[in-house]
Amino acid sequence: MTISDSHKISNLQLSRLEAGCTPLKARRRVLEEGQIIHMPVSGTSRLVLERAWQHITEVFGAEPRQAHKRLKRPEFLRCVSEAKQVILQDQELRNLLLEILCSTFNSRPGIRFDPPRLRVVPPWQSLLPEPLAPEEEEEEEEEEGAYQPVSRSTLAEAGLLPLFSTHRDTFYANPQSQINIWLALHDVGPQDSFRFYPQYFHEPVANDSHLFNYDIWKKDVGFGKSQSNHAEGKKALYPQALDEAALKNPAAFSLKEGEAIAFAAAHLHGTNPHCCQSTRFSLDMRAVEIEDLQPGGLQAPNRDNKSQGSSLQDYLKLED
Ligand SMILES: [Fe+2]
Repeated sequence: MTISDSHKISNLQLSRLEAGCTPLKARRRVLEEGQIIHMPVSGTSRLVLERAWQHITEVFGAEPRQAHKRLKRPEFLRCVSEAKQVILQDQELRNLLLEILCSTFNSRPGIRFDPPRLRVVPPWQSLLPEPLAPEEEEEEEEEEGAYQPVSRSTLAEAGLLPLFSTHRDTFYANPQSQINIWLALHDVGPQDSFRFYPQYFHEPVANDSHLFNYDIWKKDVGFGKSQSNHAEGKKALYPQALDEAALKNPAAFSLKEGEAIAFAAAHLHGTNPHCCQSTRFSLDMRAVEIEDLQPGGLQAPNRDNKSQGSSLQDYLKLED
């Protein structure tokens, strides 16, 4: 049985901020009410697109979204890793994303942030050690555009479940006051964006976050290495909801290139194992406002997170 048979994914309703909404009100809507905010294309996000694609194309070559078809798996993973590093270290790109965050949610003196991360999600079949037999591949192609036409048991057999686990970023010891921004580098639809489970913003789910310790994880695993860890056969803890089959009402979203969403790190979500023909590229950035970290400050409800340590120790302050 496929996930699509048992849990239809609906279209996620995104909220919009009215003109003149203050950063404090905007953060309240995200952190206390759990709203997932649509952020339209702007002059700044167009500059982000231009700069990010320049880096990606330099690393992957022409038509980066098709690179998984022409590169062998180790070479593809090497490119993923290199592109992530280039983007992580690009100060100008970082400043553009900070401008988007500070124009809506944060103050420049108060922001603490984790630099932008590039996310690269190829079709799930291309993550398999051996290509699928031709007839199976054809079968998958027929379902192009369907919602998650792959079963959890297939992903589990291939050792790919951790890449697509359902989690809150707070399970990774991200602050309860954290807001994430996720920017689409090309058009995405429900099949290749990611899924939220909005009702669990206020409800607990069984999870293994109590096993997560930020300091140990940082040393042994690290962000952005899930695909290479998988390829190297490393065992790593990716904290997650334990009974995904029991979770209700998943919803995924569509965005045009340069549009973004902003959401609380405490939202339950997970990447969709897609079988579109093209690799998905996106950028995300995480931020907190320092005043929200004070006693009585704004934060998302914590119903079930028992992770230890805090990623905040590695967040950066904006230089004046
Ligand atoms: Fe996440």
